Amino acid sequence: MESAEGTHEGNGDDLDPQGDDPGPRGSVMAADGDGEQFQYHSSSDLDLAGEATDRKWSIRCIDVVKRLAGIPVLNGLNVAIPDDTITVVLGPSGTGKSVLIKHLIGLMFPDSGDVQVLGNSVPKLTMPQLLALRRRIGVLFQDGALFGSMSVFDNVAFPLRQHTDMSETQIGERVRRRLADVGLADAMDDSPSQLSGGMRKRAGFARALVTEPAVVIFDEPDSGLDPVRTALLCELIEEMHEANGGTYIVVTHNIASARQIGEYIALLWRGRIVEAGDAERMFSSENPFVRQFLSGSASGPLGMD
Ligand SMILES: Nc1ncnc2c1ncn2[C@@H]1O[C@H](COP(=O)(O)OP(=O)(O)OP(=O)(O)O)[C@@H](O)[C@H]1O
Ligand SMILES: [Mg+2]
Repeated sequence: MESAEGTHEGNGDDLDPQGDDPGPRGSVMAADGDGEQFQYHSSSDLDLAGEATDRKWSIRCIDVVKRLAGIPVLNGLNVAIPDDTITVVLGPSGTGKSVLIKHLIGLMFPDSGDVQVLGNSVPKLTMPQLLALRRRIGVLFQDGALFGSMSVFDNVAFPLRQHTDMSETQIGERVRRRLADVGLADAMDDSPSQLSGGMRKRAGFARALVTEPAVVIFDEPDSGLDPVRTALLCELIEEMHEANGGTYIVVTHNIASARQIGEYIALLWRGRIVEAGDAERMFSSENPFVRQFLSGSASGPLGMD
């Protein structure tokens, strides 16, 4: 097997990703600054969030608290992300979406609580274990995060050159295939500055997928794109998921994208998950918070911060 994965299985702190012990059902009522009451997802809800009880969970965040500059950004966050599914984490700007992603890949660690990814407790990993875990995760960063000094081809080849012992011939084949998948076969010799915003996102997507990761995380793949390019990128995400499988996490504030590709949806608000569940259930939810969120309505229990 050529992939970077395979050689780095099983880190020490294996935690049961299936969650056989859901515990008692419960939820947390929390008052925000205005005295409004929010019913947040609690850790004991995690296994009950969707309809399927035999579901496997690739990722779990349990009571995660993270303060940055003295402000609680993640504020008792509980969520479980199902295996082999496109999950959309939907939330307004500044609500902690990128901070959550940083916790999943161990660029930030919680002040308290646990982050479990592919059976590993991320805060407990040693640096070599964390690096091995990161090799199983592909990330499309919010701005594409391409290296400006490298061609598109070299950008996409970078993770393979860094993390695998694949030959240049094998790398060339893999990179060309991924670039063709995302419609950039003709742009591989270009530098990132020659690409449009949408092309840069697609190049970032090709790079995120090139190691055939078990988990792919997209931070606002639709930001800065017009609605048509957003819809096309979402279609591409769906096609790639269909072809490759894996756990996809799409973080966005775009409800149209959530509707288009979300199979499972988690709503993030003020550093916590308000509700999570299968898309169909979420879009027909009676919960006034969920309804307002998913309809993008100004009227409802949620107000401006
Ligand atoms: N390193 C940091 N130091 C201090 N505060 C931070 C840091 N990183 C993020 N924050 C704060 O945490 C909050 C959440 O930031 P985050 O980037 O996660 O938001 P987001 O939901 O991704 O927003 P957007 O949709 O605009 O990308 C913001 O108020 C931000 O200012
Ligand atoms: Mg962000």
